[in-house]
Amino acid sequence: MIQSILEKAYFTNSLTKNEIIELLLNKNDKSLYTYADKICKKYKGNFIHLRGLIEFTNVCKNDCLYCGIRCSNKKVQRYRLTNSQIIDCIKTGLKNGYKTVVLQGGEDSFFDCEKIIKIIKQIKQYDIALTLSIGERTYDEYKLFKEAGADRYLIRIETTDKNLYYKMHPNMSYDNRKNCIYNLKSLGYETGTGCIVGLAGQTIESLAQDILFFKEVNADMIGIGPFIPHPETPLANESNDNFDLALRVMAVTRLLLPDINIPATTAMETLRPDGRIIALKSGANVIMDNITLAEFKNKYEIYPDKKSSNRTKETLQKIGLFPSSTKGFRSDNH
Ligand code: 5AD
Repeated sequence: MIQSILEKAYFTNSLTKNEIIELLLNKNDKSLYTYADKICKKYKGNFIHLRGLIEFTNVCKNDCLYCGIRCSNKKVQRYRLTNSQIIDCIKTGLKNGYKTVVLQGGEDSFFDCEKIIKIIKQIKQYDIALTLSIGERTYDEYKLFKEAGADRYLIRIETTDKNLYYKMHPNMSYDNRKNCIYNLKSLGYETGTGCIVGLAGQTIESLAQDILFFKEVNADMIGIGPFIPHPETPLANESNDNFDLALRVMAVTRLLLPDINIPATTAMETLRPDGRIIALKSGANVIMDNITLAEFKNKYEIYPDKKSSNRTKETLQKIGLFPSSTKGFRSDNH
């Protein structure tokens, strides 16, 4: 049964919701990972895209129940990087061979449209692809950021279960978030979305729905991470036993969207010391290394004990993988 679903996924890249559920439920079956790895290598080769992540502000107006930098957490020491500090990070990134930089931050209104455009233009003076991850903005702002030179945008839907979405995200709108993703896509961004796996009340059916949503949007990048409880949030006492399920969601996503970019997420490394390596053998082909200046790194604590370990080229080569020499767009497979 599982075998025939996997064969179907491998050859057609499409599955019904029930078939996806079947794959997610089958905890003891490891062949899902083998198929995901096989299809990943077929479409992406033995190449890994390394991205340099800059967490440039941990100020956030939102109050997401799971997130350590939610506005209600008064214990966070808030910071903002200056433009010249951001450029210092970029220079370090270039020196270390990164060809993409991801500028990520909380939803911080200090960084208005004008300020973001200025930063984009400064960054794009260097020969580097730029991914923004700064949350929900208007269509017009996304358009201006694109015109200023931004190449890609990450904004996870987090969950497609509307009820769960509203429980997790006070004062936010599910429809607006979904619109943001479609707007980005229509503006020509390489668009990334994704979900958290293991939120209290999240069903396997809704995770299957999340995967179908990724396919429907034709997302160019998908980030999937296990939920990790943060002590200073209302979800502090929830379970953190979500690694395997997150890995399964990721592997099924790879089978349905064989040519996209999928990171071995930091949250996976946080739950297992070899979490990223396991992910890279189960369908992932991207690593996002934190290149934020050392003094700020530990202040961007969306979940506890967040790893920022930088994988060396040697570690990758040990498992037969090589850093790509391209900027790592969806169509880059070498
Ligand atoms: N556990 C796992 N992932 C989290 N994120 C935020 N808080 C947590 C947590 N406690 C994820 C969200 C967000 C991304 C930047 O980090 O999915 O989109």
